[in-house]
Amino acid sequence: MEVAKPRNLGGSLPVPNVQDLAARPQDLTATPTLLHRYLLPQPNTVDLQLDGPAHEQEHVPVIDLGRLLQDDRAEEAARMRLACENWGFFQIVNHGIPEETMEEMKRNVMGFFALPLEEKASLAQEPGGIEGYGQAFVVSEEQKLDWADMFFLLTQPPSYRDLHLWPSNPSTFKNCLESYSAAVQRVASELLRAMAENLGARDHSDMTRLAATQGMRMNYYPPCPEAHVDRMLGLSPHSDAVGLTLLLQVSSVPGLQIRRNGGWVPVMPLPGALVANVGDVVEVLTNGKYKSVEHRAVVNAREERMSIAAFHSGKFGTTYGPLEEVVGDEEVRYRSISVEDYVKLVLSSKLEGKNIMDAMKIT
Ligand code: OGA
Ligand code: NI
Repeated sequence: MEVAKPRNLGGSLPVPNVQDLAARPQDLTATPTLLHRYLLPQPNTVDLQLDGPAHEQEHVPVIDLGRLLQDDRAEEAARMRLACENWGFFQIVNHGIPEETMEEMKRNVMGFFALPLEEKASLAQEPGGIEGYGQAFVVSEEQKLDWADMFFLLTQPPSYRDLHLWPSNPSTFKNCLESYSAAVQRVASELLRAMAENLGARDHSDMTRLAATQGMRMNYYPPCPEAHVDRMLGLSPHSDAVGLTLLLQVSSVPGLQIRRNGGWVPVMPLPGALVANVGDVVEVLTNGKYKSVEHRAVVNAREERMSIAAFHSGKFGTTYGPLEEVVGDEEVRYRSISVEDYVKLVLSSKLEGKNIMDAMKIT
């Protein structure tokens, strides 16, 4: 039975539009109370000073999906296992999504964010809603705000879509999002299947069911006033509260960084690649064998940056908990929870480090 998509799960408090603020920096500087909503107590560059030069040579692993699907896949599968166990992040090449589909998606997202504010505002998030144009995870007037706007849509399964929030401008947006969404969901499902195989799960659907639903978060990071660039973040450190994320870096300007050995390692945009990362739900299902990794987005004083994150998760009406076969003789380290309760927990929390995992751990 198809379970209806739940509504009124909780939303974000309304916040100023950052693209608009970036266009009038003098107003921002002239309004200290506004500026202080974005300014971090510590410069974020402190964290950028990595422990040692070793980090500079470290790169997020690159996985070839074509090779992972071959009969002769043992070597690539082993590389992916290491990427899942040691990094939580990898870039995927040779994924089979046509270059034209990716490029058209980029053009449509750039076109959408370039629309006048009034036009985008007609697709604004409704109070208590998660979809639409606005911001996510703002739960108090005191918390520091991210230097970014976002546009979020539920894209899979088709019955979860709220088509009145899908832009009709650019005119190709809807069709393009539909093809891109299906293509990315296919990649997510193939990666989860490969993970299931690596984990020794007999039933691959234990993992592939985490590609059943998809939400698309389109991020827009405007240039940040030069004077404040080291005291603002585009996206606060967080792990993704989902099963598997596949991110397309729309712009060639870097910004995504992952936490590793006490420092921050950039994920450099690789033309044509998707960035995959293990989400909190995979951490729960694998009983911590594959851990979600904190990441953040830094801002740039001169250039705007965009990205498209496709979040994959299980369906409402199902449960998340450590898989028996993966747990084996080990102790169970995470609680089991219904998908509905899990989503409510996530949406009522501030985006902060690995706080969801702390709530899910059995202590
Ligand atoms: C996200 C995310 C990073 C980026 O949307 O969850 O981590 O580079 N985005 O925009
Ligand atoms: Ni993220």
